[in-house]
Amino acid sequence: MPPWLTLLLLSSLSITDIKQTTSLCCVTQILQQLNVALNSSLNIFLNFEDVSSDELELTLLETPSIQLQLTVMNFKYFRILGKFTRKALIIVNIKRHPIDPVLSHFLPHLLKELHELHIVFITEQSPIIWLKDLFVYCFGEGFVNSLLIYHRNGTTSLYSYIPYPVVRAQKISQIEEYVNRRLILRNLQHFEIRTTSFIIEPRMIHYTNRKGKHVHAGYMYNAMLEFIRRHNATLKILTKKHKRGIAHVGEQMIPSKEIDFACYPKEPNWNVSQTTALYILDSKITVPYAQPLAKHWYFAKPFTRTTWLAVLATTAYGTIMLYGSDRTQFGVHLLRIWCHLLFLPQPRIPIKNWQQYVSYFILFLSGFVLTNMYTSVLKSMLTSGLFEPQFSSLEDLQHAPFRLMITQYYADYFREEKLIPDSLIRKYYISSSEELNTNRAKLNISFMYIAYEDRLDCLLYQQHLLKVPRFKKIQESVGNGLMSFPVAPSLPYLNMLNSYLRRIFESGIFQKMIGDSCRDSIESGICHLFRTEASGRNSFNLEFYLLAVALWAIGLSIATLCFLLELVIVSNVQKKM
Ligand SMILES: *[C@@H]1O[C@H](CO)[C@@H](O)[C@H](O)[C@H]1NC(C)=O
Ligand SMILES: *[C@@H]1O[C@H](CO)[C@@H](O)[C@H](O)[C@H]1NC(C)=O
Ligand SMILES: *[C@@H]1O[C@H](CO)[C@@H](O)[C@H](O)[C@H]1NC(C)=O
Ligand SMILES: *[C@@H]1O[C@H](CO)[C@@H](O)[C@H](O)[C@H]1NC(C)=O
Repeated sequence: MPPWLTLLLLSSLSITDIKQTTSLCCVTQILQQLNVALNSSLNIFLNFEDVSSDELELTLLETPSIQLQLTVMNFKYFRILGKFTRKALIIVNIKRHPIDPVLSHFLPHLLKELHELHIVFITEQSPIIWLKDLFVYCFGEGFVNSLLIYHRNGTTSLYSYIPYPVVRAQKISQIEEYVNRRLILRNLQHFEIRTTSFIIEPRMIHYTNRKGKHVHAGYMYNAMLEFIRRHNATLKILTKKHKRGIAHVGEQMIPSKEIDFACYPKEPNWNVSQTTALYILDSKITVPYAQPLAKHWYFAKPFTRTTWLAVLATTAYGTIMLYGSDRTQFGVHLLRIWCHLLFLPQPRIPIKNWQQYVSYFILFLSGFVLTNMYTSVLKSMLTSGLFEPQFSSLEDLQHAPFRLMITQYYADYFREEKLIPDSLIRKYYISSSEELNTNRAKLNISFMYIAYEDRLDCLLYQQHLLKVPRFKKIQESVGNGLMSFPVAPSLPYLNMLNSYLRRIFESGIFQKMIGDSCRDSIESGICHLFRTEASGRNSFNLEFYLLAVALWAIGLSIATLCFLLELVIVSNVQKKM
């Protein structure tokens, strides 16, 4: 709106001044009404000479107050924080219009991230000329809730402004009108909200869809887009390429208000404003899944320690019982016991007494149990597959033969913050972010990767159809970030954004958006679904029988040796005779 139009607008307003017996009392009354309407628990007076002896009877206010004298240098670093002061009402005395330079520097610092608190400016000079300048300053610093009280010679006028789509000063006749402005501020009237475009699945991606349309997707993008739609704003996406990547966005573009928000969780080392954190986002490491075990080991694997103990116990029991009741041929008894254990057929057994009946029954039973257990365990192992030991903790990763692929920026960050064990730092493989992104998106199993959990889950979503996954996520976290959007300082709609984000998070909509973004990144072609190629028919090949054949060969050779040994012994005995 051009300035002459504002002047016209303001001068055309009929002056409906609030007449009171004394003007001083009137300002106090307005403040009192505001305190009640806003339920404020603290009044902060700025730029007043001395409240106690002031001509304004401000000490009559019932709310606790503090007064800050800006002439004292130390107050430059004064900042209000916390829950109690969230209900503060800031009262500023304007001495030099539109605003004193010291005050204009101090106020944004005092109200850092609380810039949506209500601010009352009080003046005795006619504000018509500089009213707009004051409100433009206010909007620039995000002070959307500003009220100007002009009082002189018993007349009092109130002014505020509508910030969207352009700053417009507004004369107000009643306090209620100002308090109810909240609803008007919810409609951003096509106000432009800017962000920048990049591809970081699943937070923000852009691609050409099947209908040939260029679209943006990603859960952080969708969350912001919904906010923008809901509040009748417009989204402007800058497509300028940034050489330094996301760090440039967080450290340069947002603090300098080049853009209003970024679809990337705020990194702990970025010095920017942020929305209230929704939850803790862990950084996790993903490591290639263990290799399948060679097929021939399957025969030996069901023999765990307890199986061996059971076999030994049965053999010992059988030997004691059979040899104890019939001390004739030790070897024959042993062979019978083995036949029972292996559940093999054997010639008719001559049973001498009832003790042998019991022993044979027990041997039969244990042989039945052991052979069935062995075959069923082997069967289930063949079905599910056996793998070499997994790396499942950070400690295990020390012995992993893989290197950790990482960009220089994050390598420095993790090294400085001492979040990763030293043994892993030695395994760094520094790469460019393009190389990292392509390898990670393809799930190249030659490296380990590190990423925030949301991103890792999206990458690992690619393997959810696989029978055996390619990567395993280490559950221990190596660093924490907060799930919050980095935003430009003094964003005028920060409170609205915060409550919107909290609502979509608590209702589960945010979680749904995260889930959808994984599918979007697959549709975009950035990620793709891996499939198991092997068919269902897995016949046993030679490899499977290798160990069995080897054992059989060893058994045969030992038997041959024994036979030869016996021949030698027998011939020796015959010679002696
Ligand atoms: C005002 O705040 C107090 C606590 O500071 C609370 O007990 C009270 O319910 C609030 N009143 C309104 C109307 O919000
Ligand atoms: C305000 O009142 C004083 C005297 O009380 C008078 O001199 C001055 O002209 C008045 N100003 C306006 C703007 O009415
Ligand atoms: C959105 O803003 C435009 C521009 O100010 C306005 O014309 C329109 O009525 C608004 N829509 C809604 C639903 O408030
Ligand atoms: C963060 O940035 C602000 C200005 O935007 C600066 O005053 C402050 O010193 C910075 N803090 C750190 C820790 O760098």
